[in-house]
Amino acid sequence: MIPRPFAEVASVGVAVPPGVLTNADLTRMLDTSDEWIVERTGIRERHIARPEQTVAMLSHEASLRALASAGAVPADLDAIVLATASPDRLLPSTACDLQALLGAENAAAFDIGAACPGFVYALTVAEGLIASGQSDTVLVVGAEKLSTITDFQDRSTAILFGDGAGASVVRRSTRPGRGILSTFIKSDGRLAPLLYRPGGGSVDPISEKVVCERSHYMKMAGREVFKAAVLAMADACDEALRRAGVSADEIDLLVPHQANLRIIEATAKHAGVPMSKVMVNVDRYGNTSSASIPLALEQAVSEGRVDSGTVILVVAFGAGFTWGSAVIRW
Ligand code: UT7
Repeated sequence: MIPRPFAEVASVGVAVPPGVLTNADLTRMLDTSDEWIVERTGIRERHIARPEQTVAMLSHEASLRALASAGAVPADLDAIVLATASPDRLLPSTACDLQALLGAENAAAFDIGAACPGFVYALTVAEGLIASGQSDTVLVVGAEKLSTITDFQDRSTAILFGDGAGASVVRRSTRPGRGILSTFIKSDGRLAPLLYRPGGGSVDPISEKVVCERSHYMKMAGREVFKAAVLAMADACDEALRRAGVSADEIDLLVPHQANLRIIEATAKHAGVPMSKVMVNVDRYGNTSSASIPLALEQAVSEGRVDSGTVILVVAFGAGFTWGSAVIRW
C-alpha cells in the first residue's frame, strides 16, 4: 500500500445566511430562557436561511470561495461529494444541483447522508477516490437548511439548530507529509430512533397525518444522545490519532462538531487537548450538522490559527448514530 497522505485539504470556504435568530428571539416563541440555553448548550444565536435560499445556493457560495482559495476552477473537479441531512429535494441529489450551478462539467456528483459527521464521511470518500486513482480533485461540501426540519414548537430541539454551508477542495497531495494523515468513520443504526425524522420518507410518506403529527420534523432524546456523543467522540479521537501515529501533544488544533459546548469540553478533556487549542463557535451558529466542521475550520483559518504544517484533529457525532474523525497536517 502506498503510504499516506494521498490527499490534502487545499482550502475551506463557507456561506452563512444573514438572518440571525437569537436566544432572546426564541424566548418570545417558546417556554425557554437565554440562561438555560447558554448554560446547557453554549449557544447564543444561529443563522436561518430565507425561504428562497436553498442548500444548493449556500453550497455554491461556499464552494466558489473554496475553489478561489485553492486556485482551482469548477472544470478541475472530478467529483462533488455533498453531505447533508436537509437536501433541497429527495430526488435528485443536492450535489447535482450544485454541479449545475458551478458548471462543473467534468464532475461526478452525489450526496452523503451521514448527519453531523457528514463532512468527515465526505472527506473520507474524497480521500478514497483520490487514493484509488479515480479522481485528482474532489469538492467536499457540508451544507444544511436545518430550519426546514426543525420543529419550532419543540423547545428541546428548536434552540439547537442553524443553517449554513462549508466546502473544501481536496486534491492529490503534492507536498510531502502534508494532507489527510488518517480518517475513521463508524455507525450504530440500532440507536436511530434517539435522533430521527419519523415521517416524510417512504415508510410514512408526507400526508396530512404526518404534517398534523409534526413527524416530518427532527425528534431527539437529548440526554441519551448527549451520553452517546461524549463516548463516541472520545473513541473517534483515539482512533484517528492511533491511525495517524500522532500523539495528543502533537495536535495543534482540535476542531470538534459544534453541537454543545459541554460535549466539546468533554471531548477535549478526553483527547488531552487544552481548550486553548480547541475551536469553538457553537455560540454563533448552533448545531449546523454537516456544515459545523467546515464552519469552525474556516473560522480557525481566518483567525490565523492554521498555518502550513498545523496538525488538526476533526471529530463529529450525529444521527444514525454515526461518528468519525480525521487527522490533517495542513
Ligand atoms: O449533533 C447531533 C448530536 N446532538 C447532540 O449532541 C445533542 C445532545 N444533547 C444535548 O445537547 C442536550 O441533551 C440538550 C441541550 C438537548 C438538553 O440538555 P440536558 O441538560 O440534557 O437537558 P434535559 O433534556 O435533560 O432536560 C432537562 C430539563 C427538563 O425539564 P425537567 O424534566 O427536568 O423538569 C426539560 O424539560 O430542561 C427542560 N428543557 C428546557 N428548559 C428550558 C428542555 N429544553 C428546554 C429549553 N428551555 N429549551
